[in-house]
Amino acid sequence: MPILDIEGIDKRFGGLKVIDDVTLGVDDGEILAVVGPNGAGKSTLLKLIVGLEEPTAGTIRFGGRDITPLPAHRIRQLGIAMVEQTPRPFPTMTVLENVAVGALFGSPNGMPTEGAALATGEEMLTFVGLEDRKDDHIDSLNLHEQRFLELARALAGRPRLLLLDEVMAGLNDAELQASIRMVRTIRDELGVTVIWIEHVMAAVVELAERVVVLDFGRIIADGTPETVMRDPRVVEAYLGAMAGGTDA
Ligand SMILES: Nc1ncnc2c1ncn2[C@@H]1O[C@H](COP(=O)(O)OP(=O)(O)OP(=O)(O)O)[C@@H](O)[C@H]1O
Ligand SMILES: [Mg+2]
Repeated sequence: MPILDIEGIDKRFGGLKVIDDVTLGVDDGEILAVVGPNGAGKSTLLKLIVGLEEPTAGTIRFGGRDITPLPAHRIRQLGIAMVEQTPRPFPTMTVLENVAVGALFGSPNGMPTEGAALATGEEMLTFVGLEDRKDDHIDSLNLHEQRFLELARALAGRPRLLLLDEVMAGLNDAELQASIRMVRTIRDELGVTVIWIEHVMAAVVELAERVVVLDFGRIIADGTPETVMRDPRVVEAYLGAMAGGTDA
């Protein structure tokens, strides 16, 4: 049984249909990449899953349970976490405090004590290799470290499903490789299912077991990176658009 089961969802913003009849099943433990041109609806799809937006039609099930009408904080407690395309860390808090917030509001068994949240925060900072930076100010982290901080914060709620929106954009080659290894480790060691939006095609080919291509809010291809990248519809819709020069 899939851990996530999306059936016939639509999302309209006014007259604009941004997600158009998307049906998608994601298996427990999968690493699924979502790709597509700018404005295709990728971020909106993830926001619908975590309840930051509500679909205008269709059903989303998580672990067999209908989560479509639930508010975002309930969905987070049920075990779905997201790193948004434009993260908003708490600038006055330390690195550790930022991660502990993820434990406070994401935990499945009600809100933990402050001490327990800080302990979970330390554990997750160690997991992503930022334990030495725990007392530092957010501003002292570079882009790569900020992205890992966001991963730690999302993981602090102990999700079963992790949604990542372009967390590899703007990284250098070494940082990109470290990020690919980190996502794989999150799946392998924590058993977390990952859905991840990515523009860097080399990373998709290296990391994804399955790729879904969105174009104008519709899924136009679904398969292994190798087959999807060779699909003529994808070459036309996606790689054609990328030739316009938005790739990292
Ligand atoms: N809150 C909103 N209100 C109105 N329109 C929106 C809203 N959010 C997104 N859109 C529109 O929906 C479409 C899809 O946006 P979305 O952010 O999901 O695309 P995307 O595939 O993530 O693009 P990118 O690769 O640039 O991040 C765009 O046309 C966007 O302008
Ligand atoms: Mg987006």
